[in-house]
Amino acid sequence: MDEQFAQDVMHGLSAEPKYLTSKYFYDKKGDALFQEIMALDEYYLTRCELEIFQNAKEDLLIQFSNSGKSFDLIEFGAGDGKKTKVLLDYFLKKGADFTYLPIDISQNALNLLAADLRQSLPSLKLETLRGEYFAVLSQLEQQPGRTKVMLFLGSNIGNFLKPVAVDFLSQLAHTLAAGDLLLLGVDLIKDPKVVASAYNDQLGVTKAFNLNLLTRINRELGGDFNLKEFIHAPFYDPETGAARSCLISNSPQTVSIERINATFHFEAWEPIYMELSQKYRIEELEQLARQSGFSIIKHYYDSKKYFTDGLWQVSNKTDK
Ligand SMILES: C[S@@+](CC[C@H](N)C(=O)[O-])C[C@H]1O[C@@H](n2cnc3c(N)ncnc32)[C@H](O)[C@@H]1O
Repeated sequence: MDEQFAQDVMHGLSAEPKYLTSKYFYDKKGDALFQEIMALDEYYLTRCELEIFQNAKEDLLIQFSNSGKSFDLIEFGAGDGKKTKVLLDYFLKKGADFTYLPIDISQNALNLLAADLRQSLPSLKLETLRGEYFAVLSQLEQQPGRTKVMLFLGSNIGNFLKPVAVDFLSQLAHTLAAGDLLLLGVDLIKDPKVVASAYNDQLGVTKAFNLNLLTRINRELGGDFNLKEFIHAPFYDPETGAARSCLISNSPQTVSIERINATFHFEAWEPIYMELSQKYRIEELEQLARQSGFSIIKHYYDSKKYFTDGLWQVSNKTDK
């Protein structure tokens, strides 16, 4: 993992324009900062998805269990699992036969999640899996008679460029069996002011979350980033629906990273692209599902229609 981190940093900072990969935000400090982000007034996404789950949990259980069948609930990038817990709690109360398998790249996030769930939902069948999404998923055997229900929540799909999202979901459809399900949480196109402030909070937590990746590079790879020399500059393009966060060098400077034996020059006002949070229109989601081998069973919405959780089913099995 360390080697991969080093390689990805080398690759990203050598590129034109420079970028860093957002999956590396999540060290111990990054996990905690993301929990703070989810609690911010401006960060509506978590509250919207929580509202959807509270209202749709009954219907989701009917759909997931196909009226009584057992299932594996596999979550990509589970984080602290706060929203998922609403479903887990309800499913257990209803006596559903299921196992919860959260997959996350952050061992720290999985440890905290497991400790919380063992304490609050002791009867839950739980198997935590650490690693990259597909590296882990491809190792899971298909259990005869059990449906795989994938959860990919919090608009994590928005971290991918649109063509990459098609590839990602196609790979997912290919790995799953016909009839398996995906619950995909997606942030929708809305008032640009609402979106922009979600990534530019008053308290500066999102800024700290972005800068923490430079701290991680300093600590783990022997970098000498001076955090004071970078400003946080998020922006939203209402035409494409792309919210992006950047760190911008406020002066000409050179940064050295010892473990990869490299130096990187920054011009004044040169950006490092940090994270994409792509927003979608419903028609685009319908197209995305078709292109990647899924059909959409239904969309669930929050009361403001800011966010949707789409229930998708693998529709296009030709070679599995
Ligand atoms: C933005 S958080 C979202 C957490 C949760 N899904 C939610 O909706 O609140 C993203 C989570 O995905 C994990 N993650 C990011 N990229 C990953 C990858 N490529 N493979 C596995 N986990 C990843 C991170 O460690 C983090 O816990």
